[in-house]
Amino acid sequence: MKIRHLLTLNDFSRKEIDDILRQAAVMKKSPAGFRRALYGRTLAMLFAKPSTRTRVSFEIAMFQLGGHAVNLNFSEMQVSRGETIADTGRVLGRYADAIMARLHRHKHLEELAKSAGVPVINGLTDLCHPCQVLGDMLTIKENLGTLKGRKLVFLGDGSSNVCHSLINASSMLELDMFVSCPRRYQPKIKGSFKLVSNPKEAAKSADILYTDVWVSMGQERGKAMRIRALKQYQLNSSVLGQAKKRCIVMHCLPAHRNQEITSDIMDSNNSVIFQQAENRLHVQKAVLVKLLKN
Ligand code: CP
Ligand code: NVA
Repeated sequence: MKIRHLLTLNDFSRKEIDDILRQAAVMKKSPAGFRRALYGRTLAMLFAKPSTRTRVSFEIAMFQLGGHAVNLNFSEMQVSRGETIADTGRVLGRYADAIMARLHRHKHLEELAKSAGVPVINGLTDLCHPCQVLGDMLTIKENLGTLKGRKLVFLGDGSSNVCHSLINASSMLELDMFVSCPRRYQPKIKGSFKLVSNPKEAAKSADILYTDVWVSMGQERGKAMRIRALKQYQLNSSVLGQAKKRCIVMHCLPAHRNQEITSDIMDSNNSVIFQQAENRLHVQKAVLVKLLKN
C-alpha cells in the first residue's frame, strides 16, 4: 500500500480534510474512546528549530492514543555532524512507525519522506505549516459554524509558512482569503487569495483576522528591515474596528506582544488564540490515526 504523508495540505483531498476536522471534533469531545487507537505505535519527532506547541501536542497526542513519541533535537543528533537527512530518515523509519519533522527547507522534508519508508508529517518548514492550519480550521468551525465563504484576512508577512498553509486551506475549503502585506513579503505560492495592501481596507467586514510573527525562525538576519517594513500591518484595535462585530482574532503563536499584535487584542473577547493552540492536539490525533491506522 502507498505510504501517505502530510507534507502540505495538498497531500489530502478536500474530503479527507473534512473527515479529519470531523474526527478531531469527536476526539476532542470523547478522548476516552481513543485510548488504544495507536496502541504500541511510535512516532519519532525531529526538530531543527525550537518548538513548544508542536512538540508537546504531538508527544501528548501519541501518549493519549496509547502510543509513544521520541523527541529528537538536531543539535544532539548526527545530522549536526553531517549525516544526511535522507540517511537519518532511512534509519528512523526502521525504528518508528511515523516521523514528524520540523525542518528549515521544505526540500529536506521531501527527501526525508522519500527515504523514510513510513508516513512523514510536516511539523513546520519554511514553506508551510499544515498541522497549525488544520487546528485553525477546527477553531474557525467551532466559533463560526462554517468555513465556506468566510472572509479570512491575513495581515503581516504574507510569505510566512502559516500564511501559505492558510492559502492552501482557503483554496480547498472555499474561504474568501485576503492578504495584506508589503510587496516584498507577498505569498510565494499560488492559490486563491486577494492582495489588499491597506490593512484597514482589507479588514473591512472580516470574519477572521489572522497574523503571525514578522520574523520567522531562521530569518533573524533581516530582522530590523522586516520590522520596519511590516510596522503598519499590526493587528490592533483600529484594524479590528473595521471587521465584523463578532470577528475572531487568530495567531499561531508564539506571539511578540505589541509587535505584530497588540496585547489588548490578544486578550480580548474576539481572540480565539489559545483555543487554536489547544486544537493542535485534537487535529494531530486525527492525522496520526489516519496515517497510522494500517
Ligand atoms: N504554533 C507552533 O507551531 O508553535 P511552536 O513553534 O511552539 O511549536
Ligand atoms: N512563521 C513562524 C511560525 C511559528 C509557529 C515561524 O516559522 O517561526
